[in-house]
Amino acid sequence: MSLEEQIINQYSKRAVNSNLYAGGHYVDHVQKEIKENIGAFLNEEFKEFENLSLLEIGAGNGTNAEIFLNLGFKIQNISFNELLPERISAIKSNYPNNAVFEGNAIEIDINKKFDVIFQSTVFTSILSKVDREKLAEKMLSLLNPNGIILWYDFIYNNPKNKDVRKVDVKELKLLFAKSSHIYYKKITLAPPIGRKVKKFYKLFNVPFLRSHILAIIKK
Ligand SMILES: C[S@@+](CC[C@H](N)C(=O)[O-])C[C@H]1O[C@@H](n2cnc3c(N)ncnc32)[C@H](O)[C@@H]1O
Repeated sequence: MSLEEQIINQYSKRAVNSNLYAGGHYVDHVQKEIKENIGAFLNEEFKEFENLSLLEIGAGNGTNAEIFLNLGFKIQNISFNELLPERISAIKSNYPNNAVFEGNAIEIDINKKFDVIFQSTVFTSILSKVDREKLAEKMLSLLNPNGIILWYDFIYNNPKNKDVRKVDVKELKLLFAKSSHIYYKKITLAPPIGRKVKKFYKLFNVPFLRSHILAIIKK
């Protein structure tokens, strides 16, 4: 099965707008934590954001762009990639004037480089080791010399969901062995706990109960 077939098959099982974290307090806390940590990480790397170009790989419906717009990125500097036709349509409807590179990110073939390339829970959707390696290589190749990859993904398997597979820190470092520097932080209270504890998210959100990492991967 090709990567495109695998992703189409996998996502046809889910409702187009379904959300892994569906559920009031939990999703609010998760998103707030992601936004705050992305802001803090990017502030470590760049003095200002308004001239930075950004590409989001596997952008879903494109809604993550709001995180970057709120931080001061300019809308005209944001580009998207996505594989699934319904999601491409949603991106185009949400951001009609932005570049959308349609199809498998591994095959993006453009003459442009980016300051920031963002991926959020895309690698864990890709099951093949070889495809993961190809995508990591592609992302590095699309970076400007001082560019960074911004990474958000989970590091533990969910035994109930065989359609996705963790990328732990060891694998991340192997995927980006050519990177000059990688640093990361564990974030996101694991979904099974977070959904139960709801408004007590902050109380339970200690590192050993977190399921994801936010990472910066430098070229
Ligand atoms: C779990 S969703 C996350 C969507 C979005 N990044 C977010 O954080 O909400 C993973 C997305 O990656 C896309 N995807 C997976 N593999 C891809 C590939 N090789 N090229 C482009 N998109 C891909 C899927 O179609 C899906 O929309």
